[in-house]
Amino acid sequence: MSKKIGIIVGSLRKASFTKNIAEAMLSLLPEGYEGKLIPIGHLPLFNQDFDDEGTTPESYAAFRKEIEGYDAFIFATPEYNRSFPAVIKNALDVASRPYGQNKWNGKPAAIVSVSPGAIGGFGANHHLRQVLTFLNIQPVQQPEAYVGNVMALLDEQGKVKSDDTRAFLKTVTDALVRKMG
Ligand SMILES: Cc1cc2nc3c(=O)[nH]c(=O)nc-3n(C[C@H](O)[C@H](O)[C@H](O)COP(=O)(O)O)c2cc1C
Repeated sequence: MSKKIGIIVGSLRKASFTKNIAEAMLSLLPEGYEGKLIPIGHLPLFNQDFDDEGTTPESYAAFRKEIEGYDAFIFATPEYNRSFPAVIKNALDVASRPYGQNKWNGKPAAIVSVSPGAIGGFGANHHLRQVLTFLNIQPVQQPEAYVGNVMALLDEQGKVKSDDTRAFLKTVTDALVRKMG
């Protein structure tokens, strides 16, 4: 049976560059590894009262169950104000609770930050790394993946243009696959 890699994209924008890069990474997974984009934009903002008062939204229950079913994750994040977007934080928070039921616990993950700018989302990448550490997600440390000047790397259809870019992204997916064992 193939191993499952869930891909979390931190942009809800239809023409998201980050999603384009995530889709390219999905296509680079080797045989025996199945990647899937996990929707997160529909999750209501986390509120502990939902769980405490027995009014947990169906979307939370389904998302928590879905996260449990993956062997590893790829977090593809844009940078918002030198951090990662709230939509990723919300998804992380939702599946980290109720207390003692952290669905992310112990799973490997790769982080790739993406930006039209030159710094490649460094701030987003490392803020995200801090949160994943607390959730006991096991992040790939090397290679680091800061995809800068992304608009130059994609064609009109949002496909990665060059073999060099694909080769770089494959070093990241390969490192994740090695970490999964
Ligand atoms: C609220 C907001 C804050 C942003 N802050 C940054 C930033 O700190 N660093 C950066 O490189 N780009 C920043 N940008 C520009 C994004 O990198 C750009 O909009 C990018 O296309 C978003 O990713 P997407 O194409 O996947 O939606 C920001 C954009 C928004 C909407």
